[in-house]
Amino acid sequence: MKKLNVFPEKHESDQRDFLTLLEQTAKVHGETLLPSRRFERPLWGEDFFNLTSSKHWRDLNDVTKHAVLTALGQKVLQEAYFIECAGMAYAGKMNLASTSREERQFFSFVGEEETRHLRMIESIGGFSTAPEQIPSFALLIGEIIAEATKPGHLLLIQILLEGWGLNYYKTLAKSCFDETVANVFKSIVKDEIRHHSAGVVLFRDVTLSNSDAESILSYLERLISMVKIGPYTVCQEVSQYVGFQGTGDFRSFLHETNAVSVTAGKLEIIGHLVYKSLPRTVSDELTHNGTLAPLTLPEMTDTLAQAILGIAEPA
Ligand SMILES: [Fe+2]
Ligand SMILES: [Fe+2]
Repeated sequence: MKKLNVFPEKHESDQRDFLTLLEQTAKVHGETLLPSRRFERPLWGEDFFNLTSSKHWRDLNDVTKHAVLTALGQKVLQEAYFIECAGMAYAGKMNLASTSREERQFFSFVGEEETRHLRMIESIGGFSTAPEQIPSFALLIGEIIAEATKPGHLLLIQILLEGWGLNYYKTLAKSCFDETVANVFKSIVKDEIRHHSAGVVLFRDVTLSNSDAESILSYLERLISMVKIGPYTVCQEVSQYVGFQGTGDFRSFLHETNAVSVTAGKLEIIGHLVYKSLPRTVSDELTHNGTLAPLTLPEMTDTLAQAILGIAEPA
């Protein structure tokens, strides 16, 4: 069977007939268009990205700060867009894997909801939806959807990622400057709560084989390492303007932005979800491997400095 394409290309705009039918269908399903935003401006502020108490940040001028916050907001939307895109494929895959008519009904509804999420985020606009812009976190989610088995799907996508996503979307809604955008995230959260709960319920009937557990652990390690690295996107944007004077200077920026404790908080949420859902022997393995332990400040400094161009001292 041909491998599932989680992120298909956008339809050619000259295929008008099909696009018209799609728009008609969206309308029949109750879609109302969001008022378009007239200009690009930040949707989340410096406190959302933990920049407020950074001296490096305060030293930037207002125009630069505006540009960085706008770009960070675009990246938030871009990641959410591609994750919802993956959500549509996920619903389709779970639909086909359903073992009862009721389960199939549920995933058909989920498919519609993920489509609505995608279209709402797309209508906010101001970010690129080009395939080469797919963030690495979304790409990994796509890989899990295409390749994991049903127990892995339930646990990794529905329980963990949707559980994590709804916490994250709640904070996005709470801190957003724009009421319309905040309402988009609030409405998505309502659906994600049900998706997450269904994952918890369906996973109760699953007996994990050793190979399922092994594959879940290896995906978990990759997912967690992407969180554990720290505020990659913020550092990448800020570094374009700050011009860090080597890794010592960069380390003080991470210190000012509480990068280690903020990241530790995120790892704690993931750990909580993992322990709540996985058999104890499996989740204990993550703890024993140190996967859930946060990096120290020097470790985070080195890891991020190596990942972001222009921070590490020239050899
Ligand atoms: Fe969604
Ligand atoms: Fe969902």
